[in-house]
Amino acid sequence: MDDDAFENLKDAFRAAPSTQLGRVIIEEYIRREELDAAGLLYRSSIDEHPDLQNDEWDTQFLEQEPEDLRAKLKVVEKDESVINIDTFRAKSTTFDDVVGLDKIKKQIHRKIILPFQKPSLFDRFRKKAGGGILLFGPPGCGKTLLARATAGEIEASFISVGISDVLEMWIGSSEKNLHEVFEKARSQTPCVLFFDEVDALGASRSDMRQSAGRQLINQFLSELDGVKANNDGLLIIGATNAPWHMDPAFRRPGRFDRIIFVEPPDQSGREAILQIMLAGKPLGKLDLAAVAKKTDGFSGADLQAVVDICVEEKLKSAFSSGVPEPIHTKDLIKASKVHKPTTREWFNTARNYALYANESGLYDDILSYLKIKK
Ligand SMILES: Nc1ncnc2c1ncn2[C@@H]1O[C@H](COP(=O)(O)OP(=O)(O)OP(=O)(O)O)[C@@H](O)[C@H]1O
Ligand SMILES: [Mg+2]
Repeated sequence: MDDDAFENLKDAFRAAPSTQLGRVIIEEYIRREELDAAGLLYRSSIDEHPDLQNDEWDTQFLEQEPEDLRAKLKVVEKDESVINIDTFRAKSTTFDDVVGLDKIKKQIHRKIILPFQKPSLFDRFRKKAGGGILLFGPPGCGKTLLARATAGEIEASFISVGISDVLEMWIGSSEKNLHEVFEKARSQTPCVLFFDEVDALGASRSDMRQSAGRQLINQFLSELDGVKANNDGLLIIGATNAPWHMDPAFRRPGRFDRIIFVEPPDQSGREAILQIMLAGKPLGKLDLAAVAKKTDGFSGADLQAVVDICVEEKLKSAFSSGVPEPIHTKDLIKASKVHKPTTREWFNTARNYALYANESGLYDDILSYLKIKK
């Protein structure tokens, strides 16, 4: 079996584990002499798929020295790229760097930062600090930026984890990975622990019925609940473009109990974002308000793309003419016609969920946003 085929098989197993696929994958691991991986998969699947059981594999994998397993996990721990931890004391980015979104900043301040900074005040009102917030919305509209800025506001360290990286390792060791991530965050409080694409982890039950995924979700929930460990000083922020794929269990009190819609920038927001993105570039006379007016539906990331297209064009012409030329209004407008805004497609999907699956008013903010836009 070639590597591509093997990867496909593993993907298929992740999506829908079956005894038969599990067996083929274990056999292939053995053929490739990747015995650790074979053993991890066998041990983590045998409960759910008892038909996998065979005596030879029992001897080979279940009686394996636990030491071996630990050594294997150490290797995983050492390789930081596996969990893609991005950690630093984030003082550099604060709310001042986030254009607009004032309501959200206030909300984060009141519900997250204050209880965090003045726990005694909140104790008196018996309001528990803790629990996480979930930021959702179309791509490129500042979710990651907000998480980073929240860390900056309280001078906390910031750990960002891409869930797909954790999942990549889920055959056998992703629960362990996840636990390590939480432990690392707990060891350097105050800390903002940011989970990007958290929907990939919290995929709703119908998408992820299987045991391995379920186990990982349960692990995540118990880490969130802080059952076995203390989550004081830990702010957990999740971000997703697809909140409808998340398991409702994530929204219970004490978990992601604050759910915040991060909307695309309005006209004055787009103007201010463009201003930031163009800073330090050679500029002609610019009417950014005009550009902002013509870029309805553009996210921050879309505006970045527009600026990048302009810069590239200018570089090209500077190469041929030898003279660097400044960016003008018409260049930006021209570029904005080349780049299609990415938020529209998102709203097409979101509209359906907001209209037909708006349990407990979860998507009210989307509805009111769309109404304003109509
Ligand atoms: N409100 C804003 N103020 C300033 N910059 C912004 C704002 N919104 C987006 N940007 C800029 O746009 C780019 C994309 O933002 P960011 O990565 O935070 O989006 P995101 O919502 O996390 O996107 P994704 O869903 O794709 O992860 C960044 O360069 C960010 O600085
Ligand atoms: Mg992001």
